[in-house]
Amino acid sequence: MRVAVTGGAGYIGSHTVVCLLEAGHEVLILDSFANAAPDVPDRIAGIAGQSAQVMRVDITDRPALTDALTGFRPEAVLHFAGLKAVGEAVEMPLEYYRVNVAGSLELMRAMEAAGCHRLVFSSSATVYGDPDVVPIPETHALRPTNPYGHSKRMVEQVIEDWGVANPAVAAVNLRYFNPVGAHGSAQIGEAPQGVPNNLMPYVAQVAVGERPHLSVFGDDYDTPDGTGVRDYIHVVDLAQAHLAALDLTGREGGVQAINVGTGRGYSVLEMVRAFETASGRPVPYEIIARRPGDIATSLADPSLSAARLGWKAERDLEAMCRDAWVWQSYLAGKNSG
Ligand code: NAD
Ligand code: WQD
Repeated sequence: MRVAVTGGAGYIGSHTVVCLLEAGHEVLILDSFANAAPDVPDRIAGIAGQSAQVMRVDITDRPALTDALTGFRPEAVLHFAGLKAVGEAVEMPLEYYRVNVAGSLELMRAMEAAGCHRLVFSSSATVYGDPDVVPIPETHALRPTNPYGHSKRMVEQVIEDWGVANPAVAAVNLRYFNPVGAHGSAQIGEAPQGVPNNLMPYVAQVAVGERPHLSVFGDDYDTPDGTGVRDYIHVVDLAQAHLAALDLTGREGGVQAINVGTGRGYSVLEMVRAFETASGRPVPYEIIARRPGDIATSLADPSLSAARLGWKAERDLEAMCRDAWVWQSYLAGKNSG
């Protein structure tokens, strides 16, 4: 198939492009490179043994997007491009709505112009807010608590309404839980700019000696050890879920939302210990106050993904930590050399 991938040079997008190329698809990456290194497409080609086409395009630029899509004529679009930092979204809500919401609208209009109606969208478990029940089923109420989460919920709504208006639309809103790890080749991974917002990249930077210690945000949650519990998923498993979702849009019309997680949770301290084991390095930590907006436990109910996508996460916590460590070690060598 011909598949266009917005944000295909980013963390999750790059891993998905590798899987698409390995499965024999023809891929066009559309990325502004706002949060991606320029050599990512070459690295993808190095892993997959074949190249994706690449266009430097901003998703808020509809004429450029329309040209790209009418030229490539994709049969489907995977839409990763966007801004993703919760704290930044609270400070810059207009920018988040412009890129995430208006950019997604421009993408759907460009898809209409190109006659393409198959879409897989990167949504997030953050749309559930503070859940009433865990594991969280897709039928749970959507109550995001910050502009980033609102932007994801809004785009899900737009896609649903597009599906109601146009029976040709076949779309899946994938609600990711906590993606971690990197490709086993250590050629691609997450390279946060500045201080990492997320736990795993922060832990990796402590283990490699770039930061003195981890601050653990609270140990008084209602969880077994008092620290927050999350559903971590290996990024390569997440990438594979996109191929399954792509297949689903070929089999069925309409719009569906599907969780992507494992259903198994780990606490912050369990993550620290697992990372120490995988890296052979100590990860000193200090307990500090809760981070505003955090919840105690977030876990996917993965039953719908198993039933609808025929997909299940295969990589365990050891693989997540090992691959994150190999990638972090590579990054540290690159930065020092
Ligand atoms: P990322 O920042 O690594 O990737 C996003 C990509 O989009 C980058 O390559 C960036 O250059 C590109 N981009 C940003 N703005 C753009 C624009 N205006 N036009 C074109 N390209 C643009 O992030 P990621 O972690 O790979 O996340 C991918 C998607 O998954 C995002 O939509 C994110 O909200 C969603 N998501 C991520 C997580 C997570 O924890 N990483 C969890 C749930 C959902
Ligand atoms: C995990 C756990 C923290 C950092 C965020 C977004 C969500 C989604 C995924 C995009 C929590 C604790 C963290 C640190 C810590 N992204 N922690 N010290 O908050 O579950 O989700 O990323 O859609 O929208 O909100 O992930 O990795 O930030 O935190 O103690 O330095 O680690 O309190 O319990 P989170 P996270």
